[in-house]
Amino acid sequence: MNKKAFIFDLDGVIVDTAKYHYLAWKKLANSIGVDFTEIQNEQLKGVSRVKSLEKILSWSNKTISEDQFMELMTKKNDDYLSYIAKMDESEILPDVTNILDYLIEKKQPIALGSASKNAREILKKVNLYNKFDVIVDGNDVTEAKPNPEVFLIAANKLNINPENCIVFEDSVAGVQAANIAKMIPIGIGRKEVLHEADDVFTDFTEMSTGYLKELIIK
Ligand code: BG6
Ligand code: MG
Repeated sequence: MNKKAFIFDLDGVIVDTAKYHYLAWKKLANSIGVDFTEIQNEQLKGVSRVKSLEKILSWSNKTISEDQFMELMTKKNDDYLSYIAKMDESEILPDVTNILDYLIEKKQPIALGSASKNAREILKKVNLYNKFDVIVDGNDVTEAKPNPEVFLIAANKLNINPENCIVFEDSVAGVQAANIAKMIPIGIGRKEVLHEADDVFTDFTEMSTGYLKELIIK
C-alpha cells in the first residue's frame, strides 16, 4: 500500500459557488454584448479569471485595451464577491464535510487545489479552512488548469508522489490537469462532461466510505 493524498478542487466540489461564477461571467459578457451559454460556461470551469476573460473575448472576436481588460476583471470579481459575501456553512455541498472528516479520521493528507484567488476566504466563511493540511490556490500558481501546476505544488507540499494523489474535480480543465500530473481524477458532476475522469459521481452522497477505503488501501 502506498501512502495516498486527497486533493479537492473548491468551486463546484466543496461549495456551490460554480453558479455564482456563472452568473457573474454571464452578466459581464452580456454587458459587453457577448452571448454566454451554459455550454460556454462549462469551458470556463476550473479556468483562471484572466484565461476566462480571454476566452470570452476570443469567442466574440473582441479586442480591448489592457486597461479595459483590468476593469472588466475587477467588475467580474466585485460582482462575484457580492454573491459570496453572505456565504455560510449551508453552501457546503452535500456530504463534503462527512468525506473530509472520514479522511481526517483515517489520517489521510488533504489538500485544496483551486484556481480561485478567493479560495482561502471562502473556506474560512464556510468553516472548512482548518480541515486542510495544505492549501494551494490561484495566488500560488503562474499557470492555469489544465496545466497541472496547482496539483503538483499540492503533492509536493504533502510530500506524496503524484501517482498516489486522488483529485476531486468538477471541471474538464481540472480533470485534464490531474491526468497530465499522472494523478487519479475523480469527477464530481456529469459523466458526459467529465468522461476523462477515472470515475464520476453526481455528488459526494453517491460515494460510499467503502469506495474511499479502496482508494486508501489500493
Ligand atoms: C475556479 C472556477 O475554481 O476558479 C472558475 O471554477 C474561476 O470559474 C476560477 O474563474 C478563478 O476564480 P477567482 O475566484 O479567482 O476569480
Ligand atoms: Mg471547480
